[in-house]
Formats: sequence, C-alpha cells, structure tokens
Amino acid sequence: MLNFAFLGCGHIAKSLIQGFQKNTDIKIFGYDILEQNKEWLEKNNHSSCSLEECIAKSDIIFLCVKPQDLKTLCDEIMEFNISSKTFVSVAAGVKISELENLLPSSKIFRAMPNVGAKDNLGVTAIYSNHDNKEMVKTFKFIGESYEVENEDQIDLHTVLIGSGPAFFYDLMQEFENRLDELLNDKESKRLVSIVFLSSIINAIKNGENLEELVESVASKGGTTEAALQKLDEKGFKEIFSEAVDAGIKRAKELSMN
Ligand SMILES: NC(=O)c1ccc[n+]([C@@H]2O[C@H](COP(=O)([O-])OP(=O)(O)OC[C@H]3O[C@@H](n4cnc5c(N)ncnc54)[C@H](OP(=O)(O)O)[C@@H]3O)[C@@H](O)[C@H]2O)c1
Repeated sequence: MLNFAFLGCGHIAKSLIQGFQKNTDIKIFGYDILEQNKEWLEKNNHSSCSLEECIAKSDIIFLCVKPQDLKTLCDEIMEFNISSKTFVSVAAGVKISELENLLPSSKIFRAMPNVGAKDNLGVTAIYSNHDNKEMVKTFKFIGESYEVENEDQIDLHTVLIGSGPAFFYDLMQEFENRLDELLNDKESKRLVSIVFLSSIINAIKNGENLEELVESVASKGGTTEAALQKLDEKGFKEIFSEAVDAGIKRAKELSMN
C-alpha cells in the first residue's frame, strides 16, 4: 500500500485524486485550508488531515497550492521531519532549484499534469535532478506521462498541456453559442460536441496527416474552405501561437517571484 498526501486540495489536486483513487493500492490523505475542500475529501472517502499527519503518514507528498502560496506552505512543512520524504510540486513556473531551497533534505520532483487526470486521461511532464523512471510510472496510472530533459520545456508543456483543456473549453463555448441558433436545450448542445471527440479519435486512431484530414473535410470551393480561409486571414495560427507564448512568459514571471 502506498500513501499519497495532497497539500492544497483545489482543482488540480481533485483531478489527481480522482485518477489515483482508482488504484486500490493507494491510500489518499489531504490537507487544505478551505472547509469546502476538507468536506470534499471526506465525501469522497479520503482522510482530511492536519499538515503534520499528512507528512508523517505519506510516502509521496504532492504540493498543489498556487505558486504564490508555495513558500508559506513550505515554511509550514519545514517544521516537521521531511528527511525521507518525496515531494512532487505541480506549481506552474516554480523551478526545482527554488523548491530545493524551500524544502532542503528532501527528494523533489516537478510534475505538470492536467485536469484529464480525473478520468485517467491526463498528460504529465516530469522533471527533477533524480532518476525520473518511477515517477513517470506513477503518473502513467492517470494517463500519459513523460520526462523532460530541460527544465524550460516544462513551461511549454504547462501551456500546451496544463492549460490546453481551457483553450479547448473556450473554443467549445463559442461553438455552443453558435449552436444556439440550431438547438436550444443545453444537453443537446453538449452532445453535439461529440463532433470534436470523433475528430480527435479519428486523428489519434488512424494517425493520419492532419493536413490531409483537413483536406478530407474542406472540399475545393466549399463551405469549410471559406471558413478556414477566414481563420487564416484573421491569423488564427499566429494568434494561437502568441497565446502560447503569453502563457510561457507568465510561467517565467512566476518563477521569478
Ligand atoms: N488547475 C489546473 O488545471 C492546473 C494544472 C497543472 C498545474 N496546476 C498548478 O496546480 C496548483 C494549484 O492550482 P489549482 O488550480 O488547483 O488551485 P486551487 O483550486 O486554488 O487550489 C489550491 C488550494 O490550496 C489551498 N491553499 C492555499 N494555501 C494553502 C496552504 N498554505 N495550505 C493548505 N492549502 C492551501 C487554496 O485555498 P485558498 O483558495 O483559500 O487559497 C486552495 O483550496 C498551481 O500551482 C497551478 O500552477 C494547475
């Protein structure tokens, strides 16, 4: 049996917990300052504990607070014995060197997961100054996982994979807004988004060239081509790329706080 503790039980911790809880060899403990998150843990049959208990009982301790709250949390952790503990920080932008300063004498990894972990369809990047094999394997239980060789690559992963679901939901929102002209009940509109799912399954399953897949829908002189031309004219690809760069810039700013 492995014991996992989650310090900060907000959005990403809940996704990780829901993924890991399907492994009956893992026992989960959580610590949060918000009453609603403590209640959530209990409601999901996990122990809501004190910080001391979480640390004492766990083999792997996940740091799941916002980057700006990490220092306070680590100062609190340092009041306890952490010499044999493994920590995993999911905080965007916070570098391994900073984490090692905050929690000396412990083994620390950076992991950048995403909310897909909830359905064991997450994608996680791992970086540390240790052998990452076991940690990559741990995260494979909740989806795909890989190690990055260069810490800067985590920032790109953070934006493409960590933030990726939000880009997608934003697009889906506009898709549903336009569907208003066709369907008026919320449930039917959501079901129609299966169009995205089938497109993704098609691309993954058949591994086809994406340009060819676009061509297979956009016949010459047709409606798709007209819409795609508008996207091109408005610089859709450049806008997307600039948005990714803005996210990376923010990750770098966070690492300097
Ligand atoms: N959300 C994602 O999809 C995602 C993906 C990858 C990585 N991350 C990273 O995950 C971290 C958490 O993000 P999130 O979206 O899950 O944030 P969140 O929903 O705000 O969760 C963080 C939780 O930790 C609590 N907290 C703050 N200080 C604490 C302390 N000292 N001790 C115990 N609990 C404390 C917060 O309470 P208060 O709200 O009262 O502060 C909140 O309930 C961030 O560093 C982010 O970069 C997030």
